[in-house]
Amino acid sequence: MSGMASHLQEIIFRATQGGWATGHFNASEADHIRAIVEACRDAGAPAIIGMSEGERSHLGLLEAVALCDAFRKEFGIPIFLNADHTKSVEKAKEAIDAGFDSIHIDLSALPYEENIAHTQEIVEYAHSKHSNILENVGMSVEGELGYLRGESRIQQEKITVKKEDYTDPAQAADFVTRTGIDRLAIAVGNIHGISLDEPDLDIERIRAIRAAVPPEVALVLHAASGIPDDAIRSAIAAGIANIHINTDLRTAYVAELKKSLAEHPDEAAMYKLDAPAIAAMKEVIKQKLTIFGATGMIKASV
Ligand code: G3H
Ligand code: ZN
Repeated sequence: MSGMASHLQEIIFRATQGGWATGHFNASEADHIRAIVEACRDAGAPAIIGMSEGERSHLGLLEAVALCDAFRKEFGIPIFLNADHTKSVEKAKEAIDAGFDSIHIDLSALPYEENIAHTQEIVEYAHSKHSNILENVGMSVEGELGYLRGESRIQQEKITVKKEDYTDPAQAADFVTRTGIDRLAIAVGNIHGISLDEPDLDIERIRAIRAAVPPEVALVLHAASGIPDDAIRSAIAAGIANIHINTDLRTAYVAELKKSLAEHPDEAAMYKLDAPAIAAMKEVIKQKLTIFGATGMIKASV
């Protein structure tokens, strides 16, 4: 099997077993996808590109799929496109049909039984489709349980996460069995975006969920921007195998772009103005991959 053909599920399983985590980085522009792919290639890490409903409708679903195909062809590294935080069955099927490699069906806001029923429907639909990359392998599906607050931006307020919003280990085991998902996104004190107070991850809770859920189902930590490096390392040691980063990339990109615009008021070529912003984004991705222990892991995954 070539590096390009490695399946997402297999790579994330190796991460779980090996005590490291794959990085999932969000994009809304073609330039962002290039930045993620180039940074991952430089680091020797698999590239997982996430696009929320808003991010992917901005670039276009078919366009995002075509771009990832082109990068896969050119770079020869494992590249996966995930339909991040998909909030309805309809939008999930749309992304699957467009050719995304992976789907995150996030129905965590619904009552528990409805979350199960619709997540299960998407698992069945996605598993019946072949992944873009490997014949005879169904797409990887992520479900979500627990309540994740916040948005991927700097939030000038304190956001308190209540313990009752955390993922319950026994319920996680039930959810995984009844839905058949491949990955589970959990709420353990993490908050989307960066808020005034530092997120306080419940590492014991991660360990308990890991123990309750079958080993082939990967645990996913969303909302990892702003979480201190040591807490990220502890979360990985407790069983997290896939980590989502968005705000840290957005803020690095926008800060450099603003600086570049201010420094070059007469420049009209966007590709020149945004070059430092893309470089800053790549730097953040490489730093994160080092913290996740993902550097050099393409070789371990083929
Ligand atoms: O799904 C996307 C991530 O959870 C991003 O969260 O903006 O806090 O890094 P973040
Ligand atoms: Zn998220």
